[in-house]
Amino acid sequence: MRKTTNVAVIGCGYWGPNLIRNFRSLPDCNLVGICDTKQERLSHMRNMYPGTKVTSDYREVIEDPDIHAIAVATPVNSHFDLASAALLAGKHTFIEKPMALSSAECRELAELGENKNLTVMVGHTFVYSTPVMKIKEIVDHGDIGELLYISSQRLNLGLFQKDINVAWDLAPHDVSIILFVMGHAPSSVNCQGKEHMHSGVEGVTNMSLNFSNGGFATVQSSWLDPNKVRRMTFVGTKRMILYDDNEPLEKIKIYDKRVEVPPHYDTFAEFQYAYHYGDMYAPYLNQVEPLKAQCQHFLDCIKTGEKPLSSGIEGLQVVQILEAASESLRMGGSKVDIDYALDVDQGVTRKVMVRKAGKRSISTPERGASIELGLVAR
Ligand SMILES: NC(=O)c1ccc[n+]([C@@H]2O[C@H](COP(=O)([O-])OP(=O)(O)OC[C@H]3O[C@@H](n4cnc5c(N)ncnc54)[C@H](O)[C@@H]3O)[C@@H](O)[C@H]2O)c1
Repeated sequence: MRKTTNVAVIGCGYWGPNLIRNFRSLPDCNLVGICDTKQERLSHMRNMYPGTKVTSDYREVIEDPDIHAIAVATPVNSHFDLASAALLAGKHTFIEKPMALSSAECRELAELGENKNLTVMVGHTFVYSTPVMKIKEIVDHGDIGELLYISSQRLNLGLFQKDINVAWDLAPHDVSIILFVMGHAPSSVNCQGKEHMHSGVEGVTNMSLNFSNGGFATVQSSWLDPNKVRRMTFVGTKRMILYDDNEPLEKIKIYDKRVEVPPHYDTFAEFQYAYHYGDMYAPYLNQVEPLKAQCQHFLDCIKTGEKPLSSGIEGLQVVQILEAASESLRMGGSKVDIDYALDVDQGVTRKVMVRKAGKRSISTPERGASIELGLVAR
């Protein structure tokens, strides 16, 4: 088994340098290539990392036989082209969130990974964070009782995007955490929002996720808020968890609070809710940079062949939910059902056009069998 994985990062604007820094810090990784179309970013990277191959042409890293894995940290409209080119060239591929601009593209990428036996992983960073891991553990152990609902707020001032709305920009984090903790995907979505700066691009959205087992979650996203807010509440029948990612140390607080309905009452006068106010405690959390854990997980999955926690399937689910949210926005907030049934065609040669990068098109090899991606809506 290969000990060291050679990785190249495509896109070094705001976020890519964080991936570069983390991959470089891991002992079983060589960060061997950096690519960006902007010369000023490349010059900066050259100064920071002399000795690392730096290029403005993605093909120079994708076609390099010494590079085993590619991380794509460009704007979402180029994820599909770059990631499909990387997979077709036989590279394990990490793709920033959201995985692609449509569920069709995500499915194509997930299938390519399956067909070529390559790791496909999506940057749902928070599922690798110790607070979210802890919340998952607490919920799975039943410590808060039955999980009734989750509410999430991710608000700040900007950065306004022109091609995707705030839900596509910020909500992938909330939605991926909700899917991870709930353990299943919503059956329908409602979303309302408002565009203030760019026509057709909502800067404020409110999404509701409805689960067929009665579960419920709300996600509020905004680029138009004076404060940076990163708060989630997990409400159970016995206890409640408050997760504030802006807190430096006590990111999770568990409240022994609940409301109980009296089991028996004969008259309305006898009926009274019982409000329970107990203690609060903040569990100890190991301080690990989530991005470092995420990068390590990518390397581990490449080595072991295991499916990442945020594989192409989870990337696809999140984009299906975002697509349903966009449809609901267009219909003024009406409920949109999500169909996770995957109609993966069998033995069909499909052309994967490297559209934006142009110059050439690449075709996938013949596929002999259908691929079970196993999505379940509950
Ligand atoms: N996981 C997280 O917490 C997190 C946080 C921020 C951003 N992101 C994601 O990271 C991705 C990038 O976001 P950003 O804010 O860094 O964007 P950005 O615009 O700041 O940077 C993108 C960079 O990609 C380069 N680029 C674009 N097309 C390219 C191509 N074909 N080849 C090479 N380089 C190309 C651009 O020149 C730019 O420097 C997005 O998908 C975003 O959602 C993730």
